[in-house]
Amino acid sequence: MYKSEQLALSLKHLIESGFWKPNDKLPSLRQQAEASGFSLITVMNAYQELEAQGLIYSKEKLGYFIAGDALPAVSHSVILNDKIEINSTVFRYLKSIQSEKIIPFGSAFPDSQLLYSAKLMQTLGQRAKHRLSYEQMPSLPPGNFELRKLIAQRYCMQGIPTDPSDIVITSGGLDALNLSLQAMTQPGDCIVLQETIFYGAWQAAEHLGLKVITIPEHPEHGIDLDAFKNAIARYPVKVCLLMLNSHNPIGFTVSDEIKLQLAQLLHAHEIYLIEDDVYEELYFDHKKPLSMKYFDQQNLVLHCSSFSKTLGAGFRVGWVYAGKFSEHIQHLQLMSTLSVNSFIQNALADYLSHRYYEKHLKTLRNTLKRLKSQYYHYLAAHLPEGCKVDYYPSGYFLWISLPAQIDSNLIYHQLLEKGISVAPGALFYRTGKKHNHIRVNCSFEMTEKIQQALHGLVQCIKASQHN
Ligand SMILES: Cc1ncc(COP(=O)(O)O)c(C=O)c1O
Repeated sequence: MYKSEQLALSLKHLIESGFWKPNDKLPSLRQQAEASGFSLITVMNAYQELEAQGLIYSKEKLGYFIAGDALPAVSHSVILNDKIEINSTVFRYLKSIQSEKIIPFGSAFPDSQLLYSAKLMQTLGQRAKHRLSYEQMPSLPPGNFELRKLIAQRYCMQGIPTDPSDIVITSGGLDALNLSLQAMTQPGDCIVLQETIFYGAWQAAEHLGLKVITIPEHPEHGIDLDAFKNAIARYPVKVCLLMLNSHNPIGFTVSDEIKLQLAQLLHAHEIYLIEDDVYEELYFDHKKPLSMKYFDQQNLVLHCSSFSKTLGAGFRVGWVYAGKFSEHIQHLQLMSTLSVNSFIQNALADYLSHRYYEKHLKTLRNTLKRLKSQYYHYLAAHLPEGCKVDYYPSGYFLWISLPAQIDSNLIYHQLLEKGISVAPGALFYRTGKKHNHIRVNCSFEMTEKIQQALHGLVQCIKASQHN
């Protein structure tokens, strides 16, 4: 933990214990620096952190004061992140794990052996051999009609009335998220993200110059609706970007009751939701979890998904259920990625029009379920005391909380030297966390090499406990 975070936390305890009353003046920066022994910069950072959390406010030339009744109480640590800088960290991280020699526990994608279905490859081969789809115009936004029709049918099957014109094909899920966010916001706008979330969401916010209000995870519900209410009461939020099914990196899926409550809040406050649902097909229970689109009576939800986690990330094909924003998003596409590879779109449409996809998904789910259980049992049995492994019945990530004194960045660097990658917590959250989490991709068969790597991971964590 940084010194400023440490100081902010102890001052927060004092504020919450009623040590000061609303509108009381806090010690000046200099007084606080003298009392605590921290530098002026550290104290200033701590005060700014408390201000971002709404616990104190500043008056020009007068100093800092305890927030009064005029502000809604922020009991659930809503944090304002003014300026996002994560892209370079993600860039360095992705470069560092790229080598084929590295055991890819840090990868965001399932083992490619489980994707790229043989039938799909056959379809691609046949199309290539007969030069099918080469002669056509590159498919312009919103993308291949047949593919959009098949995607629309999948929504209808889940009880979500959908027309092909609602769907825009994008270059993967990330493009869908970026385009949606770009269509809904202006630089400087406030958006809501979960405190711990896929780094692509942070990158999109950085790219578009957005301010990010974060809401913490709820231990039982996944998403903390009270914090969400606080965030929208305090800040002018028009858009949020959330993951509610098979959350990356933690793994939870939010219940239908909570989704319904969230939908009612969005409706009451006219807030748009960009829903990241790229793991929607990777559930282990019998019933596919509902998306927020299901509860969306007012067309406030833009639902983003892709084939990257089920058929292959290399295809770069995703989509957004854009509804009334379809045209706006297509305009943005014309100025950026233009079209998605028409050859691949045609082949995917061909493939999806048969029953192959359903069969492939069934096998994929069963395999991931088996592997996730194996990894979980191994890690739960071998990790030292103080570690906690979260298991949820979907996807292929395990989220491991390490003892508070262990820095997951250090673990990531040490493992990399041994040829093993893991994703450190710093990729998924910005402030207010202890940096003691790692995400492990468990989609690789338990070969001897993988078992040795898991053993290496456990040993590394054990060793750092004693340093
Ligand atoms: C939560 C989440 N959203 C979106 C994406 C991006 O998906 P795609 O590869 O289809 O662009 C990823 C990829 O890792 C992800 O984990």
